[in-house]
Amino acid sequence: MNLDQLNDVAIAMAAPGKGILAADESTGTIKKRFDSIGVESTEETRRDYREMLFRTEEAMTNHISGVILYDETIRQKAADGAPLVKLIEAAGSIPGIKVDKGAMPLAGAEGESVTEGLDGLRERLAEYYDLGARFAKWRAVIDIDAGDIPSGYCISVNAHALARYAALCQEANIVPIVEPEVLMDGAHDIDRCYDVTEFTLKSLFDELYAQDVPLEGVVLKPNMVIAGKKCPAQASVEEVAEMTVRCFRAAVPAAVPSIVFLSGGQSDEEATAHLNAMNEGYADQMPWALSFSYGRALQAAPLKAWGGKAANVPAGQKAFAHRARMNGLAQLGQWSKEMEAA
Ligand code: 13P
Repeated sequence: MNLDQLNDVAIAMAAPGKGILAADESTGTIKKRFDSIGVESTEETRRDYREMLFRTEEAMTNHISGVILYDETIRQKAADGAPLVKLIEAAGSIPGIKVDKGAMPLAGAEGESVTEGLDGLRERLAEYYDLGARFAKWRAVIDIDAGDIPSGYCISVNAHALARYAALCQEANIVPIVEPEVLMDGAHDIDRCYDVTEFTLKSLFDELYAQDVPLEGVVLKPNMVIAGKKCPAQASVEEVAEMTVRCFRAAVPAAVPSIVFLSGGQSDEEATAHLNAMNEGYADQMPWALSFSYGRALQAAPLKAWGGKAANVPAGQKAFAHRARMNGLAQLGQWSKEMEAA
């Protein structure tokens, strides 16, 4: 393991004004996204769509530090035969790869899941490194409901798997993005999200310590502390920012170089406003760089503008460049709502 190299990549992923494009939707998930715009999901349409994003020079060069890819995409070539990975590198952005195999039902814990994919991971990481990946992603899913969910058992097995994945990544000189996502789907209030997120993060960092994973070579991808979508009492932007930073200060060691949020179902503008409020109001209280690793909050607008038509590629690229610029400003704490219209 070359920890200096890992640390350099981890820092670069949340460089000033930059963050990550999560374009690692599995074949099933991208099909759902394409269904929403009435486009058939084929190897070619998936390639065309992602090529459009990776060729958006303004976004990629100025605001996208890295791109998380899916197994199919890291091997795919653009229409002119250039590997998609090369397009990303040419823009000065870092290719990354999703390596988990998804959240599966957790035995003995109805309604909960554990993320699988550790078998054969060492070999897969070596291949991904050769294909150009310098970071990876593993997502654990923690649901909240009115009963006993999440259980300590669910959080513990997911934290253990995240740490095992992280150790294997570092051995392969790949920076592990550790993503323990506490879902925002339920009716829980923001206080409950705070408690579950704090417990989850503390469990995760205990496991990373127990498994000898140096935090200087890790990137954390968390949810924000936010009320569930179905909760009647929605928190203000200021409350989300204050509670998220407070939770991280309690649970995330200062040795972690970068924290990059998932958007998790927030609207584009909410995801930007929340990130901005944290960087604008709390920069002097945070030992880590705070940025974005958004999937839906970066892609919803370009996906719609594109609509599967080659003639709409410039419109799709314009929409992507705009969202990337807005989030780049939020990383600096310099975004305002008025800039959305500009
Ligand atoms: P969203 O930003 O759409 O939540 O996706 C980010 C991601 O990579 C989830 O694993």
